Amino acid sequence: MKKIAVVEGDGIGHEVIPVARKVLEALHPEFEYFMVEVGYGKWEQTGCPCADQEIADLKTADAVLFGAVTTPPMKDYQSVVLRIRKALDLYANLRPVRGNGFDIMIVRENTEGLYSGIEEFSSDRATTLRVVTRAGSERIVRSAIRLVKERKGHLTIGHKANVLKSDVLFRDVCRSEAKEAGIEFNDRFIDALALDLLQHPAAYDVVVTTNIFGDILSDVASYLVGGLGLAPSANIGDRYALFEPVHGSAPDIAGRNIANPIAALRSAAMLLSYLGDHEGASRVEVSLDRVLTLGIRTRDLGGCAGTREFGDAVLREICRE
Ligand code: NAD
Ligand code: IPM
Ligand code: MN
Repeated sequence: MKKIAVVEGDGIGHEVIPVARKVLEALHPEFEYFMVEVGYGKWEQTGCPCADQEIADLKTADAVLFGAVTTPPMKDYQSVVLRIRKALDLYANLRPVRGNGFDIMIVRENTEGLYSGIEEFSSDRATTLRVVTRAGSERIVRSAIRLVKERKGHLTIGHKANVLKSDVLFRDVCRSEAKEAGIEFNDRFIDALALDLLQHPAAYDVVVTTNIFGDILSDVASYLVGGLGLAPSANIGDRYALFEPVHGSAPDIAGRNIANPIAALRSAAMLLSYLGDHEGASRVEVSLDRVLTLGIRTRDLGGCAGTREFGDAVLREICRE
């Protein structure tokens, strides 16, 4: 029996995750689901956004379904989602962007780069160390290469090696692994790539890049599919896996039943694929498409369905199959 840790987090995490959880429960009532509370709300209540116990609890799960957490820009507050990604060594952040005529998989390095956590702060000068290692680059590009082979596609390496020595290493490791694997590949500067991805999405397949570039690129690329409300992601390591929307806690719309739950539902579909239930994953995707075809949409897509109403419509389609 599979154990699924469910983390709502903060803000719209409390709205979109219950929708995704209901769908998982409909497809897999035999799974054990347990809640883990972390986030800014928890910090406000207890002074600690995520304790060692919560990390230990997450490690007991076969997969984690995660909403979003609020990370206030305060210099002493550590982002909970970054802590979890590091603690579970979830080094590969997979962010698919699929639409009419294009199917892109952004593979974002998830543990180092500008997110090394090696920082200094004073009122006059602050530094963040951008760490790129051979081992870190090898394991992320190998994940990307596996996907290229599965998808019978090609690889684009996104970097800024014209300016950053750290990206000279990243690019060179990626190139040499891709060459050795015998796959088709090219590389591009990340700034030009970001625009070209929007202009010619069909020219891309798997895109591998460093941590913050992948963060920004995935928000930008979600424009191709209708915005952040639709973009899912998987965080995969060798032992653990966590599935979450690309979007954050969206405090501007939280608590109003207007958030789009599609990103969370698609993240749940990725969770099912990871656990080997490809049929369940495709049932979620197909049901979502049918609901959209019926014209049922949340406000970000020009409709008037609420988060819960959209979720109920998806559940009806799933149960009809
Ligand atoms: P955000 O992704 O929360 O929101 C950006 C914009 O997109 C907002 O206008 C929001 O209303 C809209 N949006 C996001 N998700 C939506 C949805 N499902 N349906 C409809 N509209 C949606 O980014 P932000 O506002 O920059 O950040 C808010 C908080 O979330 C910050 O504290 C940030 O640090 C945190 N954050 C957390 C995660 C995470 O937990 N993985 C990811 C990104 C941001
Ligand atoms: C994301 C978010 C996180 C990140 C933040 C909230 C730490 O933007 O998951 O895309 O930068 O990875
Ligand atoms: Mn982001």
